[in-house]
Amino acid sequence: MSTETFHKSEVAVLGLGYVGCVTAACLANLGHRVTGVDRDEHKIRNVLEGRAPFYEPGLEPIIRENVEAGRLTATGSAAEAVENADVALICVGTPSEKNGNLGLDQLRRAVEEISARTRTRTKPLVIAVRSTVFPGTCEQEVWPAFEGRQNVQVVSNPEFLREGSAVKDFLEPSLLVVGGTDQNAVNRVAGLYAPLGVEPCLVTLRTAEMIKYACNAFHAVKISFANEIGSLATRLAVDPVEVMDTLCRDEKLNVSRAYLKPGFAFGGSCLPKDLRALVYRAGRMNLSLPLLESAMPSNDAHLQRAIQAVLELPAGRIGVIGLAFKENTDDLRESPVVGLLEALLGKGRTVRVFDPHVRMDTIYGSNRQFILETIPHIGRLLDNRMEETLGWAEHLVVTQKQSPEAAEKIVASGLPVLDLAGARLGVAGPALASRA
Ligand SMILES: NC(=O)c1ccc[n+]([C@@H]2O[C@H](COP(=O)([O-])OP(=O)(O)OC[C@H]3O[C@@H](n4cnc5c(N)ncnc54)[C@H](O)[C@@H]3O)[C@@H](O)[C@H]2O)c1
Repeated sequence: MSTETFHKSEVAVLGLGYVGCVTAACLANLGHRVTGVDRDEHKIRNVLEGRAPFYEPGLEPIIRENVEAGRLTATGSAAEAVENADVALICVGTPSEKNGNLGLDQLRRAVEEISARTRTRTKPLVIAVRSTVFPGTCEQEVWPAFEGRQNVQVVSNPEFLREGSAVKDFLEPSLLVVGGTDQNAVNRVAGLYAPLGVEPCLVTLRTAEMIKYACNAFHAVKISFANEIGSLATRLAVDPVEVMDTLCRDEKLNVSRAYLKPGFAFGGSCLPKDLRALVYRAGRMNLSLPLLESAMPSNDAHLQRAIQAVLELPAGRIGVIGLAFKENTDDLRESPVVGLLEALLGKGRTVRVFDPHVRMDTIYGSNRQFILETIPHIGRLLDNRMEETLGWAEHLVVTQKQSPEAAEKIVASGLPVLDLAGARLGVAGPALASRA
């Protein structure tokens, strides 16, 4: 059970489309008094007559029961709906414009209507934006309409339901996100869903807006990934479903949190090599796999952003912490840090490097050959103890996750840190920040 307190609220839902109608009906079903608003007469009439205005499994009975019980009604008047509302949920459409940008006309109209109808009211009102909007929209498009009104708060409460299973998704949410700065407003909106028993993720406004985009992009990438792997498997006379089903059985590395943390570019002796081979062989079969083909360029673009961020540091002695392609290994093959060092040295920067597992006297074989071919005088740049690098540097660039002891030393050094690894040491550098 969620820790949020359950208060029955007066709720106005602006927009009775797929999201708004399901939200209105389900919130009424949880016990709230809900007034849905739409500009479309057909949708209003349908709801008032206890019908779903579109096909969505399980929606109609919920609308009927709650209209009959007096907990759900619909109107074309935003004024009527928001008059007594504690919370106004904005669920209007945000369709694509011709250039791909998000169309905010419906949102702006809805905000104007709420603003105009609540100018003289004193009762607190929380406006929750449930429509999908780009990070910054609540601050730039919604807040200004309520400037100076102490009784109005704005929060972001993105919706994650899927058409076709929208009622089920609402009642058993995969994620409940509420973003905002005013604790009471955030709790009020999270509290609407308390009977669902889901722990809400309470985040900042912009994070809430961004999470929705991250989720949808992730879903799109997952589908495209499965389809590209499936197409390649089929061409190779391998059962695509068996491949993906088996892939999904690995819940440690594949379907898990693993690799899903923003950090530095990937490298090493396997991922680049195997991606290249896969893309090459697909190309030879005239099979276009744009997503997989873009992974290496994407990784390189990420490395270039990191290089740019380091080059933008004020001139001075740069201590790089981490040389191998990831923490807890001495493998330098295709380490993106080597590319970073090459770029810095090429630009005449003064650099020293520390990696707890990399010493010139212990690395050998293809590993040694790779680093000596790429940076022949690497031995002169390597420190054997972190203290040496910390004592020498004016800036630190952290490229790998750090052990708690190492992190403590880095923080204690008081040096400015450009954290490329998402190691959360000091302030994230521009390479990391610019990914938002
Ligand atoms: N459809 C989905 O599966 C889904 C899931 C999650 C999030 N979203 C997001 O939720 C938002 C709504 O999506 P949808 O599919 O429900 O859209 P929709 O187009 O089905 O519904 C939008 C409704 O808003 C109404 N409307 C427009 N301006 C209004 C105003 N000023 N006052 C009152 N009503 C107004 C429209 O008449 C329409 O009925 C979008 O931002 C969408 O990206 C959609």
